[in-house]
Amino acid sequence: MNVLVIGNGGREHAILLALKKSKRVEKLYCMKGNAGTSEIAENVNVDFMNIDAVKEFALANPQIDYYVVTPDDPLSIGLVDALESIGKRCFGPNKAAAQIEASKAFAKELMHKYNIPTAKSATFDNYGDALDYIRKEGAPIVLKADGLALGKGVLICDTVKQAEEGLKEIMLDKAFGSAGNKIVIEECMQGLKYTPGEEVSVLAFTDGKTIVPMITSCDHKRANDGDKGLNTGGMGTFSPCPFWSKELEKEVYESIMLPTMKAMNAEGKTFKGCLYFGLMRTNKGMKVVEYNSRFGDPETQVVLPMLKTDLLDIFEAVTDGRLADINIEWDDGACVCVVLASGGYPVHYQKGKEITIGDVGECTIVHAGTAIKDGKLVTNGGRVLNVVAKGKDVDDARKKAYAAVKNISWEGMTCRTDIGVKYREG
Ligand code: AMP
Ligand code: GLY
Repeated sequence: MNVLVIGNGGREHAILLALKKSKRVEKLYCMKGNAGTSEIAENVNVDFMNIDAVKEFALANPQIDYYVVTPDDPLSIGLVDALESIGKRCFGPNKAAAQIEASKAFAKELMHKYNIPTAKSATFDNYGDALDYIRKEGAPIVLKADGLALGKGVLICDTVKQAEEGLKEIMLDKAFGSAGNKIVIEECMQGLKYTPGEEVSVLAFTDGKTIVPMITSCDHKRANDGDKGLNTGGMGTFSPCPFWSKELEKEVYESIMLPTMKAMNAEGKTFKGCLYFGLMRTNKGMKVVEYNSRFGDPETQVVLPMLKTDLLDIFEAVTDGRLADINIEWDDGACVCVVLASGGYPVHYQKGKEITIGDVGECTIVHAGTAIKDGKLVTNGGRVLNVVAKGKDVDDARKKAYAAVKNISWEGMTCRTDIGVKYREG
């Protein structure tokens, strides 16, 4: 089969690397891809946010049998619906189901309506009412712009004054554009052992009838060591999550995963694809922080290398509604991903710096913001490379990853030095 993956990041390169292992894959394509994807797939230079252009490409390329749509933006504008309308088979939710990520207000209403554990919240499209609510609830309190804001539309406010300023920024100054027309205001959840609460990402395959969790992982969203600094797209991940257990898995499956799948069905928005549960272990049990309608980045980089089952078999089973028939198996051991970023990320950074990669041992280098310019590998974004290592445990994988990091460089390269050490006490 010939398969096309839509997206440009590390997540897409990781998906392509997993698909490449499938015996049934003949040729891979990536729209638009990066320098890494071009090594294993044919990069297609079509703007995937232009639905008509993608449809035109698909009609002109009948040799492509299957499309994998991963980024939230094309999912939220209905790229899967458009491809299916011309008879193409896809992995990814349709526009209605993708709302679970595209609108935080929708996600919160869904959870409240179906008793899925999450932080108490209220949604406002009126500044005055939102301000009254903040003053009534007090601090700490969490503000979230409703729409897609590149993971940056969330403010954790320790004081009422901070919350008032944040509200003005989001709703009046439109710091996140139209994503701030509506705002979700949430109770700030407290962790069982840590502050803020300990977080775990659980990605799951679902065809709307069956939902199967993948192995767990932990992200590092802040730019600097010790979870300090600005929120980013993710500076590194490791798998499995140290505080995870069979008991937690059962609790999450019964109180969160299955009820979410059923709730989406009941709303007429059956979700088919990868549903991402951003969870927090709180002093009141496991709760949902957020849903994503897609694979996580950089979670995918540590989850898929551990998958033993053919990824294309799973994707097609999801599309065809026969996920229950597939036995999904995982490697033992652990995996760590260290993100190498451009200096200044996530604010201002330069592109076009030449990258040197030396001996990386057994590590896999997954590309994110890279390009080839005049025959040379150069930086082309904020998050540039992912150094991925497998090991017998997280420490072993961590050592291998950081040994490889030493042999990679470009002007201004930066990374966190503490990926994989949090939540050690369980
Ligand atoms: P989100 O984009 O919704 O995942 O939020 C970004 C980050 O903010 C999360 O990963 C959490 O660390 C934190 N966060 C979000 N909502 C809450 C909440 N209600 N209580 C405490 N922390 C939160
Ligand atoms: N790593 C968080 C996300 O993919 O949204």
